[in-house]
Amino acid sequence: MTDAPVELRIERWSKTGEGIATFQGRAVFVAGAMPGEHVRARIQGDGVLRAEVLEFLATAPARRAPACPLADRCGGCDWLHVDDAEQRRAKEAIVVSTLERLGGIPSTDYALEPFVVSQPMGTRRRAVLHPVKGALGFFGRRSHELVAVQRCPALTPKLEALPGPLADVLAGVLKDLREVRLLEAGGLVAASLHLKDRARPKHEAAAQAARDRGLVDAVVLVAETGGPPVSVGDVALPDDGLLSRPDGFAQANRPVNAQLVDAVVAWMAPGASDEVLELYAGNGNFTFPLARQARSVTAVESTPVSVALAQAVARRDAVSNVRFVQADAAAVVKGFVAEHKRFDQLLVDPPRAGCAGVGGWAARLLVRQVVYVACDPASLARDAAELASHGYRPSKLRLFDLFPQTHHVEAVMAFARDQGAA
Ligand SMILES: C[S@@+](CC[C@H](N)C(=O)[O-])C[C@H]1O[C@@H](n2cnc3c(N)ncnc32)[C@H](O)[C@@H]1O
Repeated sequence: MTDAPVELRIERWSKTGEGIATFQGRAVFVAGAMPGEHVRARIQGDGVLRAEVLEFLATAPARRAPACPLADRCGGCDWLHVDDAEQRRAKEAIVVSTLERLGGIPSTDYALEPFVVSQPMGTRRRAVLHPVKGALGFFGRRSHELVAVQRCPALTPKLEALPGPLADVLAGVLKDLREVRLLEAGGLVAASLHLKDRARPKHEAAAQAARDRGLVDAVVLVAETGGPPVSVGDVALPDDGLLSRPDGFAQANRPVNAQLVDAVVAWMAPGASDEVLELYAGNGNFTFPLARQARSVTAVESTPVSVALAQAVARRDAVSNVRFVQADAAAVVKGFVAEHKRFDQLLVDPPRAGCAGVGGWAARLLVRQVVYVACDPASLARDAAELASHGYRPSKLRLFDLFPQTHHVEAVMAFARDQGAA
C-alpha cells in the first residue's frame, strides 16, 4: 500500500466507531473522522487498511470541540468530537445495519423503539485505571499505550477528580498493581486494587491511607495469584435495592440503567405462573425486579463475588423465589436440557463475546420469549440469526445510551417463538 498521503472522503461509520472511506476499491478505516468529511491521510497496513488523518480538508457539521483536554490521546471516549444528535443517529445506524448485514435481519422485521438518551457527561460510575509512570491512566486512543489521567469529566462528580490524588496516595504500591477499579454506588466510593502478587501489609496500609484521606469509603485487595480478597472497610455498596462491588460487574450509567431495567421488565412482563431463566445475571440487576412479577427466577452468573452479593440481597430482603447459580451459563443450560427442565421466558445479558448457542438453548428449554441485552452489535446480530433459525422472531429493538461520548451502545431485542415452532 502507498506511503504517500492520499485524499479520502468518509462515507459511513464502522461498527467500531471509525469513519470508512474507499481507496482503490477497498475499505479504509479512519479513526477520528466521520461521514461527510474529506481528509488528507496516510494509509497503513496491508490486510485491514487503516489511515491516520494528516489534515481535515472539509469537516462535517456534526463535528464539535471535545469537552475533554485528553480527547486526542485518551481511549476512554472515542466520540467526544461528534455532536450528541449524530452520536444517536450513528449508533442506531450501526446496530440496524449490523443486524441486517451480519444477521440477515432487515429493519422491517421488528419495531425500533425510541432511543433512550443519557446526560452527555458525568455519568460513568465505574472505571478501570492502570498504573503509568507514577500516575493512574486509561488506555490510549489508538494503541495500548497508557495515558495518565488526573481527572476525567466522563466520570460521576464523586469520581471525576479521584484519579490524580488516588495515584498520589498509592504511589508506594503502584508498581505492584495491575489495575485499579473504581465504583460509585449509593453516594459511596469503593476501589479494588488488583495485585500482581499476593496482598501484603503495605497494600493494606495504602488502602487505609486512601480511606483516611477521604478519597474512598472502602477498598478491596484482589490478588491475581488467587486467595480470598482482603477488604479494608465494607466494600459492598448498597444502591437501587442491590449490593455492588468494584471487583464485580455493575452497569456503568445509573440513570440509563434504571430505564434499561424498566424496559426489560416491561417487555418480559412475566405472569405470576411464569418461570424465568436469566443468564449472565451479575449481582441481580434484572433478577429482583423480575422476581416481583414472576413465579420464580433462576439466575446464572459465573463471578463468585457477584453471586455472593445477589444472595446477600435475597437474604436481606427475604426474596424466596430467586435462585442464584454460580456457574458457566452454557454448562447450566446443558444440565437443564438433560433434565428436560422447561422455562417460560429467557433473559440473556452476555459479555461482548455474546451467547453462541442461545437459539438452541431457547428451543430446547421451550421458552416462548427471549429478551437479549447486548453491548456488542455484531454478537447480537450473530445470535439473533441463530435465534431466528430456531423459530424465534425478533419483535422489537431499543437502544440505551449507557456509554455517551463513545461508539458503544446497549441494545435490547425481544424475540417471540413462532406459533408454528415446536
Ligand atoms: C454484561 S454483564 C451483565 C450483568 C447483569 N445482567 C447486569 O445488568 O448488571 C455480563 C455478566 O456475565 C457474567 N459472565 C461472563 N461469562 C459468563 C459465563 N460464561 N457464564 C455465566 N456468566 C458469565 C459476567 O461476570 C457479568 O457479570
